[in-house]
Amino acid sequence: MCGIVGYIGNKDALPILIDGLKRLEYRGYDSAGVAIIGDDLKVVKTQGRISDLENKLKNEELKGSIGLGHTRWATHGVPNDVNAHPHLSESKSIVVIHNGIIENYLELKKMLVKEGRTFRTDTDTEVIAYLIEEFYEGDLLKAVKKTVELLEGSYAIAVMSKNERDRFVAVRKDSPLVAGLGQGENFIASDIPAILPYTKNIIILENGDIIDVRRESINVYDKNLNLITRNIKRIDWRIEDAQKGGFKHFMLKEIFEEPDVIREAMRGRVRDAVVEFPELNISLEYLKSINQVYFVACGTAYHAGVFGKYLTEKYLRIPAQAEVASEFRYRDPVIDEHTLLFVISQSGETTDTLAALRFGKEKGARTIGIANVVGSSVTREVDQVVYIHAGPEIAVASTKAYVAQVEVILLLIVYFAKLLGKLTKEEESNIVNDFQKLEEKARSIVLRSNEIADFVSTTKSIEETFYIGRNLDFALSLEGALKLKEISYVHAEGYPAGELKHGPLALVTPNSLVIAVITYGPLKEKTLSNIKEVKARGGKVLAIAQEGYNTIEEVADRVFYVPKVANDIGPIINVIPLQLIAYYMAEARGLDIDKPRNLAKSVTVE
Ligand code: G6P
Repeated sequence: MCGIVGYIGNKDALPILIDGLKRLEYRGYDSAGVAIIGDDLKVVKTQGRISDLENKLKNEELKGSIGLGHTRWATHGVPNDVNAHPHLSESKSIVVIHNGIIENYLELKKMLVKEGRTFRTDTDTEVIAYLIEEFYEGDLLKAVKKTVELLEGSYAIAVMSKNERDRFVAVRKDSPLVAGLGQGENFIASDIPAILPYTKNIIILENGDIIDVRRESINVYDKNLNLITRNIKRIDWRIEDAQKGGFKHFMLKEIFEEPDVIREAMRGRVRDAVVEFPELNISLEYLKSINQVYFVACGTAYHAGVFGKYLTEKYLRIPAQAEVASEFRYRDPVIDEHTLLFVISQSGETTDTLAALRFGKEKGARTIGIANVVGSSVTREVDQVVYIHAGPEIAVASTKAYVAQVEVILLLIVYFAKLLGKLTKEEESNIVNDFQKLEEKARSIVLRSNEIADFVSTTKSIEETFYIGRNLDFALSLEGALKLKEISYVHAEGYPAGELKHGPLALVTPNSLVIAVITYGPLKEKTLSNIKEVKARGGKVLAIAQEGYNTIEEVADRVFYVPKVANDIGPIINVIPLQLIAYYMAEARGLDIDKPRNLAKSVTVE
């Protein structure tokens, strides 16, 4: 996820681009850059924030009324000056900014290297600039069209050529891009807030749209360059609302992004009936030598690890443990060179997690990081890293990162099981099949968020909450309870459903709410009996149940049905109603949802 802005008109482009980038900084903030065509095409870029770019620009003369700007959230290549956008073609006549991931960039890069091209960066984006130059015969639009025919992945791309100073061209697929219409000037942006002070007339582009942006016109074309019509929308949002994409809070926006996150996390990893991790270098010999697996992390990331523990033992038949990072290093765990240590961290900077990683390495474990922030400390210190590609997460309570962590962990385990010969081709292809329907199923859940809001409106008097489930539903219960505690300040406990009667049941009264997660097929009936125990004590029960399990209605006060998915894949989407419960409880109490009291997004103290 990066921020893109483009301007063409009669004014000085630079202040407009910088102003737009500042309003996009929440999308990515590890490096930034601008390209402007004046007397010549000039690019200035730097690692760091927009303020760092402004400092660098103090020593540069960048005049011109056409330009592109970019704020980066690294996906390929660490955040540094060279990998920052915009990227130039080999002869420096074409300049490109890009948001998204080009899955087949390595193949394309190899092809271009074979033809004698030399690359300067580690990014996937540079390949786009080189290809456009390859196809360029005096018409930028045609060169872009030919280039996108070769690209696989997600992208919003904007391109200028120093040979055509009266236009830029942009194209989108699975990454947001809008165009804004002004008087004698036009704009593009990855998000509306960037250009909202300049125009309220916006075209929301659709997948495959290619646009030719000039001072007096914006033409929209399909992939074959047939002219098409898109409606112009009048946007009357305030800028702060627009940054949240029209949502009241970043947390809700991030929950609604989860269907896209699910798709992005599997990109390049789930293809044609197979699961693969091209970025990992793991030999079969090494995999065979592992005799125990640890998942260490904190908070929400730790709960993703609990899920990993269940699945490692199920698929790999290797003993596995999930452990809170702050405990792990202060006991004396058995670790040696046959130990595989997964280190899970959204930020990659959590002090306890980093310390656990260092401790494990020192004892001889091999380490794999599962992280979101590219180039963060965890990613630099682990032996190998797998990114979850969830994009920047702003709300303190982690939501979309958890979804992507659980998804990537499951895919990794499936991949290892395949390498170890513990998964048949048919099993693998069934899993891939299920994954391909997951984005749609997640979308169907978020679109029913009003059902959750409606239920929560009946829970005002609740003083005590228990989340119960068995197996993977228990792992989800832990995360559901944490979310509620974090943002609504209602006391919540996640418990294995079968354990309720060994203590917490004593606390169940008519003012208690029990959220029963009952999606894991083989243990449904067992959890049902536990729900009956709660009902017998007068507790209120909301069940999160799988579609088709209608018996539950006879027992629970309310049921929220989630779509049918294979048992092991379910948690990726079944967490969504739990996140929404926490959100709406906090909203009903009028709390500061994105910045809950006493908590921080990244905890860099012990
Ligand atoms: C803090 C955050 C949590 C997060 C935890 C671990 O407590 O508030 O949302 O789960 O840190 O963070 P990490 O960045 O390591 O995943």
